[in-house]
Order: sequence, then structure tokens, then C-alpha cells
Amino acid sequence: MATFLTSLDVSAADPSVPHLILVGLPGAGKSTAGALLADELGRPLLDFDTEIARREGMSIPDIFGQRGEAHFRELEHALTVELTEFGGMVLSPGGGWVARPDNLTLLRPPARMIYLKISSSIALQRMGASATSRPLLNRPNPKGELDRLLSARILVYESADIVVNVDHLDPHGVTHRIVELLGLGRAG
Ligand code: S3P
Repeated sequence: MATFLTSLDVSAADPSVPHLILVGLPGAGKSTAGALLADELGRPLLDFDTEIARREGMSIPDIFGQRGEAHFRELEHALTVELTEFGGMVLSPGGGWVARPDNLTLLRPPARMIYLKISSSIALQRMGASATSRPLLNRPNPKGELDRLLSARILVYESADIVVNVDHLDPHGVTHRIVELLGLGRAG
């Protein structure tokens, strides 16, 4: 039995179906689009940050503050290892999950990776005050930090199977575009 909590029972998902992984900067809408996509496709959703916070019994900023970023990255990695046993889920990891190459190689192939591409200024606008709940952005120049994260990650983000430019799309538009580009529907 799965040790993680998802929106639907993971046993409802077909283990032979590849996971769909949403990647992109904080503020790109991975959690929101992930929830809509999971709903649309009838698949379980796993939001990594929500699950990690639930397991640790503390918020992501507290995990970073009290245990450090390296520990958080280990927790992300451990969750990724568990997901190799399952399939057919929509996965929404935090924006830095791609920084560790073995996270990707564990799941992909066969998983499909979807990059929600957003400019740093629009990401910051969309996050508003909640930008400060991201420990890596809760610094004097959040725009500079986001740009730095993007340049460190862009090659991996851009290596996704599909890229959706979300600057001018709302979460429903993003979801429809993903379903269209992947050629998926409820049965897919
Ligand atoms: C992080 C992004 C956050 C969260 C943590 C680290 C990152 O998730 O995992 O603050 O390294 O970009 P979101 O991308 O959902 O904001």
C-alpha cells in the first residue's frame, strides 16, 4: 500500500501508464494545473511539497530553516524513488526537483515531463505575497533569485516532452493545452 496521500487512491491508477510530471519555476501554476489535469484525466495527483510537509509535520519553510535545503532535497528524492513502483499519476514536484538528475532518470522514461514555462516577472506577480513562503525566494531580491534559479534549471526544463508557455493562459487553458498536446483524454 502506498505510503503517500493522493487525491485518488493510487490503486485506481494503471501502473503500466506513465506518470505525467509537471515542472517549472515556482509560480508557474504546477499545483493548480496539476489538480485540474488530474481531475480531467481521472488520475491521482501527488503534490510533492504538500506530501513532504504532511509527512514531516512541518511547513516547507520550517524544513528548510530547521533541517536545511539538502535534507529537503533528500525527502524529494525519497518520494521519487517510491513513485517508481506506481504509474498513471499526475506529479507536481517543487520547482527544484529537476536539479537532481537522478530524480528524472528514475521516472523518465516512461514518464512524460511537461514544462510550464513562465517568465520570472509574471511568476512573481502570480505568487504575490506567497513568494515569501518559498525559502529560496524569501530574500531581498526575489526577481534576481528567480532568474538565477531559471538559468540553473532551464536546460532540464526545456528537455521536457512538451513545453506550455503559461504566461498568457489561466489554469484551465494550461490544462486544455496539455491534454491537447499529449493527445490524452479520460481514457488516456
Ligand atoms: C523550490 C520550489 C518550491 C518548494 C521549495 C523549493 C525550488 O515549490 O519545493 O520552496 O527550489 O524552486 P514550488 O515550485 O511549488 O513553489
